[in-house]
Formats: sequence, C-alpha cells, structure tokens
Amino acid sequence: MEKKQLLYEGRAKQVYATNDPELLIAAYKDSRGTAAVPGRGAVNNRVSVCLMQMLEREGVPTHFVEQLSDRETVIRRAHMVPLKIVVRNVAAGSLCPRIGLPEGTRLHAAILEYYYRSASLGDPMINRYHAFELELCTPEELAVIDRYAFRINDILKPFLRGLGVDLIDFKLEFGRLSDGTIVLADEITPDTCRLWDAETGEKLDRDRFRRDPGGAKDVSEAILHRMTGGNFM
Ligand code: C5P
Repeated sequence: MEKKQLLYEGRAKQVYATNDPELLIAAYKDSRGTAAVPGRGAVNNRVSVCLMQMLEREGVPTHFVEQLSDRETVIRRAHMVPLKIVVRNVAAGSLCPRIGLPEGTRLHAAILEYYYRSASLGDPMINRYHAFELELCTPEELAVIDRYAFRINDILKPFLRGLGVDLIDFKLEFGRLSDGTIVLADEITPDTCRLWDAETGEKLDRDRFRRDPGGAKDVSEAILHRMTGGNFM
C-alpha cells in the first residue's frame, strides 16, 4: 500500500490518502493540541485498534482494516456523518448545568445526545428533528447509529469495569462507506471518554491510573495490558 497526500489534520491525528480509493491511513500524533507526550500517538493508535477489534468481534462494524505501524492504521474511507454522539451513564460535564443534576448522579438509563459538528457554530447540541432538517443523516441511518451507540456502551462499560474503571460518558462518530453502510469511525481512546475510578470515584485523566493490572502508568496502558496480556509495545 502506498501512502499518498495528507487529506486532513486534526488535533490527534493525520489522515492520508492511499493508492486504493477505498482506503486511508490514520497516523496518530503525540500531541493533542497541547504539548507532545512522547509515545502517546503509538499508545492511542494501539488502544483504538484493540477497542475497534473488540467491537467488530461483538458485531459493531467499524472503519478499522489493519494496523500498519506503531502509530499508523489502515482504515476504510468513510463519508463522515457530521454528528458527535455522546453517551452518558453518570451526570458530569456539560450535562449537569444543562438539566440541573449534581455531578456523579447515576442515570436511570443511558442518555444519548447529538451534537452538530460545525466549527463555526461551536458544535451545538441538537435533536433528531434538527439533524433531519439539516439532512445530516436519514432517520434510518440515525436508528442504526443509536443502536450501535447503546451497544458500544454495553460492551465498553463491563470491559472497563473489569479494570476498576467506571465509564461515565464518551463520544462517538460514525461514517458511511461507499455502499452506504454505517460504521464507527474516528477513534475511541481514553481521550474521548470520561473515566472515574470505580472504587474511589477519582477522576482518571489519561495519565493517571493507580489500580491497574501489571503496573500500567495510565488508563490506556491498562486497557492494552488487559487486551494483549502485556505484549503491546
Ligand atoms: O463536555 P461534555 O460533558 O459534553 O462531554 C461528554 C463526553 O464527550 C466526554 O467524555 C468528552 O470527553 C467527550 N467529548 C469529546 N470531544 C468533544 C466533546 C466531548 O470527546 N469535542
């Protein structure tokens, strides 16, 4: 496979064209709009690959094809649905002031939210009627996205629980393949999730993880350790 021109550069990764029009290469960066942490791109690439493989095994289609190198992964070219899908299990972040729930309130059932991906509007929260009015996706596509989002929550929650980590909320993005199939695209890493220690409630940012299997320094390493038996570097 030949790596061609840079198509897109975001905070966390670059996306390159290849000689195959259906395939792209995602290259994870060590920085995320902030100071670079050496090795972070490689760890995020590996975490995203492991989680995508797990989701595929559980029946959720993703854009993942194969890992190419420590920080590069081959993905299917997908036309992105311009929605950020947020799934919440516990009240935190922007939900608390919006509906007046104290932080840490366990929600009776998972809440799903849609944000319109628009830099000029500041990614406003919208509902399904706004999404259809703007023709961001069809009702059929949104039904599939909803189903996958809840399913991903049902897969990730117990997996992270097994690491002593509570999945508070997380963000997903979906795309359409050339045949119209909806797939999970973008990344899933601890950078797109809110994670708290299940026992102490301590907020775990990416670089803080105490109760890990095998002496991992952060949540990403703990996830990799659990998924690969420690053979991840
Ligand atoms: O800030 P808020 O509470 O709305 O975030 C909900 C979840 O979505 C958090 O897990 C956050 O990490 C994730 N998120 C994200 N990228 C954004 C906005 C939110 O990964 N641009």
